[in-house]
Amino acid sequence: MNAKIKIGIVGAKFAGSFHAESWRTVRNVEVTAVSDIDDNARDAFMKKYSIPKGYHDYMDMVKDKDIDIVDVCVPNFLHAEVSIAAMQAGKDVVCEKPFATTLKDGEKIVEIRQKTGVNYFYAEDWIFAPALVRAQSIIEEGGIGKPVYLKGKESHSGSHSPFAQKIKYCGGGAMIHLAIHPAGFFYHLLGMPETVIGSCSDGGQNNLMHPQFEGEDWGIGILKFKDGTRAVIEGNYVTRGGMDDTVEIYGTEGVLKADLTFGNPLSIFSMDGYGYAVEKAEFTKGWTRPAVDEHASLGYKDELAHFSACKEGLEKQRRGTTAEAGFNILRIIDAVYRSSREGKKVKLRIDG
Ligand SMILES: NC(=O)c1ccc[n+]([C@@H]2O[C@H](COP(=O)([O-])OP(=O)(O)OC[C@H]3O[C@@H](n4cnc5c(N)ncnc54)[C@H](O)[C@@H]3O)[C@@H](O)[C@H]2O)c1
Repeated sequence: MNAKIKIGIVGAKFAGSFHAESWRTVRNVEVTAVSDIDDNARDAFMKKYSIPKGYHDYMDMVKDKDIDIVDVCVPNFLHAEVSIAAMQAGKDVVCEKPFATTLKDGEKIVEIRQKTGVNYFYAEDWIFAPALVRAQSIIEEGGIGKPVYLKGKESHSGSHSPFAQKIKYCGGGAMIHLAIHPAGFFYHLLGMPETVIGSCSDGGQNNLMHPQFEGEDWGIGILKFKDGTRAVIEGNYVTRGGMDDTVEIYGTEGVLKADLTFGNPLSIFSMDGYGYAVEKAEFTKGWTRPAVDEHASLGYKDELAHFSACKEGLEKQRRGTTAEAGFNILRIIDAVYRSSREGKKVKLRIDG
């Protein structure tokens, strides 16, 4: 049997946890190290997931010879510097969304990836969500004819992370944080749109519900593809009741609807409530629709299994997960912001 692939996670909180739990379900990998500047969070994480090595400074961790893949689960503004340091140290990279917070940083990541030749895996989990994988295969077999209109959104009542409320840490608001999922999935299906029109609540006092957030708490982008197909992507922080992730695809011969967060077979009525229903749900009393296996239904488990299989040469990397894809998806989000700011349609270069 081949030696196990060794993972070092950077960022020991929310995303770090669902990555650590999902890596556990992947054959032939082990998480050997974690880095976090919050020493208490890191120590608790090491204990919880039985991780032998901990680092305060990720620069020390990326030099560790006992790591093959650096898994980037830190706030958005650090994605570029951590990914670049890891690639320059010869490590492969898995990086959470968004690819970067600026196009300049994104370009640098693509450049260093090409220079170093390491594997870079952009972690858009929707590409691996079982409902959307099945949807894609039904579309490919012609089950709904030619898709002409796609609509996707992620929404909840606001990120838990203090970093997500400041533009310098996160690059924007609900658009870059949430709508980047449907943007990534639609890019994976259709490639680059030709034009983008965006409208966003403009942050602070202009927000619909969250004046304390610097970034927008609501945003949509209308994407037009070369063949005329339209897609609407939406991200909003004005949704109570738990995270709501949905996709609708309208084809010439049919319609497809996917509900990633509430579309499950379990309903519960509870007088006193119980531990956990679904991400960002405020409470669990009364009737609820708890997620059955959130890490599976949102795609994290299959995503990380795919990345490790790619590293082993067993699978071909899926289109929406390359560094170039991550960068193009960021370009779509950037175009939404530009259009919303300037009040006009933005044309995108398609070959990029
Ligand atoms: N794919 C998804 O559905 C999904 C869901 C949630 C978060 N995310 C992404 O995961 C990333 C992390 O988000 P989160 O919710 O876990 O944030 P978080 O605030 O819960 O955790 C971030 C952790 O990074 C640590 N950190 C900060 N600076 C660091 C540094 N220089 N070195 C090492 N550690 C450092 C913090 O101390 C903290 O423990 C974000 O980019 C977010 O977009 C993705």
